[in-house]
Amino acid sequence: MEQFSNVLQVPFHRIEDSDHALKGRWNDDFFLESKPLVLELGCGKGEYTTGLAQIAPYNNYIGVDIKGARMWKGAKYAIENDLDNVGFLRTHIEMIGQFFAPGEVSEIWLTFPDPQMKKTRKRLTSTRFIELYCSFLKPGGIVHLKTDSNFQFQYTHEVINANGFTIIDKMEDIYEAENLKPELNIKTFYEKQWLARGIKIKYISFIPHQHELIEPDVDIEPDTYRSFGRGAVAVDE
Ligand SMILES: C[S@@+](CC[C@H](N)C(=O)[O-])C[C@H]1O[C@@H](n2cnc3c(N)ncnc32)[C@H](O)[C@@H]1O
Repeated sequence: MEQFSNVLQVPFHRIEDSDHALKGRWNDDFFLESKPLVLELGCGKGEYTTGLAQIAPYNNYIGVDIKGARMWKGAKYAIENDLDNVGFLRTHIEMIGQFFAPGEVSEIWLTFPDPQMKKTRKRLTSTRFIELYCSFLKPGGIVHLKTDSNFQFQYTHEVINANGFTIIDKMEDIYEAENLKPELNIKTFYEKQWLARGIKIKYISFIPHQHELIEPDVDIEPDTYRSFGRGAVAVDE
């Protein structure tokens, strides 16, 4: 990972509460060409980061995850396939405000995040995280969620409704759709496992804002196929 030119790894003790030197400068100091910046948060092996980069070479993509062994696969694939518009950032998502400046990011993809059924604060579509995303999203910037989890899908819909965010697209079973957009047809490691178990894949995209956010107080039926609190367990990783 240290030798990959497309990976930035920042140990917690080297950044703590300060901003990283690349904050506001990704297009000037990291990528070869200046293009709209798109993040995948919790990118795992980076299938979406690299897949989107091939579909939309007019954007720059950064996959963010804390697990280096998974990210290594995506970084290696990007180098081997000359994907100059791909980077990877190894850090905690909670710290990304220290890496991206206001208005620096155009879109965010959340691909199969752990729904965190017990811990609202840890959910990547909770108001806590939406507020963080809005600190660096451009006005009108889009958040995309692709998930197996009915719980996560419904919860996100409640967050959107409670706060009057604008829904761009909503699909309860993406593979039933005719003419599925290529960007929705990229299949990640976790997605393949859920599909093999016959679980429907859901998608919602929306434009958030950060004005007086309300965390919805609703009971949502938990997913029965997941263990509480520990999220999805990969079977062959
Ligand atoms: C269920 S996996 C999904 C991985 C990939 N998107 C996929 O679909 O195969 C969730 C990923 O999010 C990462 N993750 C979860 N919480 C995180 C956090 N707070 N900061 C950084 N990465 C996180 C995990 O390391 C893991 O790789």
